[in-house]
Parts: sequence; structure tokens; C-alpha cells
Amino acid sequence: MTKKPSVLITGASSGIGTVYAERFAARGHDLVLVARDDARLKALAERLARDHGVASDIIKADLTVPADLAVVEARLKDDARIGVLVNNAGAALPGSFLTQSADDVASLISLNVTSLTRLASAVAPRLAKAGEGAIINIASVVGLAPELGLTVYGATKAFVLYLSQGLQLELGPKGVYVQAVLPAATRTEIWERSGRDVNTMSGVMDTQELVDAALVGFDRREAITIPPLPDADQWTALNSARQAMLPNFGQEHAAERYRKAG
Ligand SMILES: NC(=O)c1ccc[n+]([C@@H]2O[C@H](COP(=O)([O-])OP(=O)(O)OC[C@H]3O[C@@H](n4cnc5c(N)ncnc54)[C@H](OP(=O)(O)O)[C@@H]3O)[C@@H](O)[C@H]2O)c1
Repeated sequence: MTKKPSVLITGASSGIGTVYAERFAARGHDLVLVARDDARLKALAERLARDHGVASDIIKADLTVPADLAVVEARLKDDARIGVLVNNAGAALPGSFLTQSADDVASLISLNVTSLTRLASAVAPRLAKAGEGAIINIASVVGLAPELGLTVYGATKAFVLYLSQGLQLELGPKGVYVQAVLPAATRTEIWERSGRDVNTMSGVMDTQELVDAALVGFDRREAITIPPLPDADQWTALNSARQAMLPNFGQEHAAERYRKAG
């Protein structure tokens, strides 16, 4: 029997990333676990070895630090055993756009957008050459909902959705599966870390249920997985409405409503 591909998971030290690690370990995949808190990663690796007999390598990395990010990129480029990337590490910010500092905003973009994109870029050529493999990008329903008031966070997640859709078109024909997962509120440390109390909120999903649903989508090779959305046709309708505009964008002249000022 050929060995299952290894899975590299960013943000594996807590929340959604830890559950992905548990689930891929239960499926018999060796792992590469990435986060800043290497004590937690070590404890997780020991538990997964004991419970599932899989081997986990640990990379302690702050993905907003270019030198640390470069180590993870190199691993994805060079380690042919890695066949799945779970681009999960991410954070949110306390406050609103008027109270968030430009440095904090830039740091969030560096983690949620730049590192995620660079890691996909590091692994994609190798997977495309092999004609197999998968990239799971953790986006968010907030990327569809500016109304929620998490403006920069939501913008980073809209980027992740768009990137995933573009990569599906570019990499799909080469045998590489790209999935965007859009959780809504899920019970993890992200809330406390960004100054919010999850216990005051309703409609919060358990982390295990979220990841198990996302993996149902993964096994079906679904492009966009929105675990809490009851009616999948609502996503299909939104995407179809967007696509219906596409043939109308290329025009020599401005639309009638702009031909007169005022
Ligand atoms: N929970 C929700 O309601 C929700 C909803 C939609 C989407 N999401 C997305 O789900 C993903 C996972 O978040 P979570 O909810 O599981 O939150 P979490 O429990 O706070 O986990 C975030 C993970 O990212 C890692 N991380 C944070 N900053 C990092 C950095 N600079 N460098 C490397 N790793 C870093 C953390 O590890 P260290 O601190 O050890 O570095 C941790 O393992 C994120 O992309 C988030 O945006 C969450």
C-alpha cells in the first residue's frame, strides 16, 4: 500500500487547526504542525502519536515574520511527502477601523493574506507537477458580510475566498483540489484573543462539528464549503448572479446612467 500524503497544518496549536490535526491523524496521515506555541504543538504531536500512531514534525513559526515564513515555504517546496496544505492560521482584531492601528491592520493582513498566499504559492507548483494534492484555505462567512462590522478581518477573508476560486480554475485542471471553508462563529480562542466574549454570542458552532462538516465537503471535493449554511442553493444563487454580470463588463462605452452628470 502506498503511504498517505503528509498534511501541513498552520495554526495547529489551538481551535480549528488542532481538530484538523486530530482528524487527519485519525485517517492515518503524518503531519507537519506549524504555530508559534511549540509547547502546545509538542503536546499535540505526542497525543496524536499515542492515539493514532502517526508522526508529526513541528515547525515553530510566527508567520508574520519573513524568516519564519521562509522556513515553512521551504518545507512545502522541498518535502515531496506533503500532499495537503491546510492554510488555517489566522487572527482577528479588537475594535473598529477607526481604533485599529495601521500597524495592527498590516500585521493582520500579513498573517491572514500574505502568509496564506505565500504558502499556497510554495506548494502549488510541486502539486501541479505531481498532478495531485490539495490546498484547504480557511476563509470565513465574514468575507461575505461587511455588515458584521469586522471590516479588515472580513476583507482578508474575502481575499481568501477569491484566491481559492481563482486557484480552483488554475490548479483544478492540473489535478490539484482547492477548497475554501467558510465557518461562521465557532467556539475557539480567536474570540478571546481579539477581545470578544464568545459566551455572550448565540449561534456558535462547536469546533469539532465545524471541522467534521468541512471534511465532508473535502471528501466530496466541494469547491466552497459553508458548514452552517442550511440552504446550499443560496450560495449557488449568489455565485450565479455574480457570473451573470461577467459578459456585461466589457463595454466600449459607459453605461447609460453615467452619460449625464448629476
Ligand atoms: N472561530 C471562528 O469563529 C472562526 C470563524 C471563521 C473563520 N475562522 C478562521 O479559522 C482559522 C483558525 O482560527 P481559530 O478560530 O481556530 O482560532 P484560534 O484558536 O485562535 O487559532 C488560531 C491559530 O493560528 C495560530 N496563529 C495565530 N497567529 C499566528 C502567527 N502570527 N503565526 C503563526 N501562527 C499563528 C495560533 O497559534 P499560536 O498562537 O500558537 O501561534 C492558533 O493555532 C482562522 O483563519 C480564522 O480566521 C474562525
